[in-house]
Amino acid sequence: LLRSAENVYYRASKITPEKRAIALGQRGAFRGSTVWLTGLSGAGKSTIAFALEEYIVSKGLPAYCLDGDNIRCGLNKNLGFSDDDREENIRRIAEVSRLFADAGLMCIVAFISPFEKDREQARLLHKKYELPFIEVFVSTPLPVCETRDAKGLYHKARSGQITGFTGIDAPYETPLNPDVIIDTTTLSVEKCVAEIISKLAENSVLS
Ligand code: PPS
Repeated sequence: LLRSAENVYYRASKITPEKRAIALGQRGAFRGSTVWLTGLSGAGKSTIAFALEEYIVSKGLPAYCLDGDNIRCGLNKNLGFSDDDREENIRRIAEVSRLFADAGLMCIVAFISPFEKDREQARLLHKKYELPFIEVFVSTPLPVCETRDAKGLYHKARSGQITGFTGIDAPYETPLNPDVIIDTTTLSVEKCVAEIISKLAENSVLS
């Protein structure tokens, strides 16, 4: 059950983003930020997210990937796949990614995040704290994701062993204003990462 905070008092940190950046020894234009990947199961979100994380860290910069399956093994292990649970899943990850970004890291989020309003909330939360938020729509179409079926989940969904599977009998709302659109049908992982990097540079998150 969700309760809003009662008798709780928010206390601001004494550390500004600038002071934190100096302490972290960050270089160039690098800033704490969130890269939010959304798309169908099997679209390539996790592959791109971990490759981007590897690239950023190889440059000596801090990045951390929050991946749907992984987070559902820990922080969000009490959530399933109803609309309400997906909303709560994304609400928590929006908050956690905001904290990571505020701490000076690049937080790379890879969740289906099927609802536009929840993604918009995540964007607004970052805006409120003046943290860059880049939404990446991994737009790989359903037939391609289903043909890949790396985890065998589409097969289970089609045969009725799983109900409420995104794209089959649960909705995926196409992003209205994504910052980057990537279709992995023909694009290599390196090219996908390069597209995101160039958008990050455009937004002064990277030099
Ligand atoms: S969501 O919609 O954002 O809350 O989903 P997310 O936390 O990203 O979790 C998606 C992964 O959970 C597995 N899985 C399902 N996906 C969609 N629908 C149903 N019903 C479902 N059941 C299990 C699946 O492995 C998803 O991983 P990805 O990496 O997206 O393929």
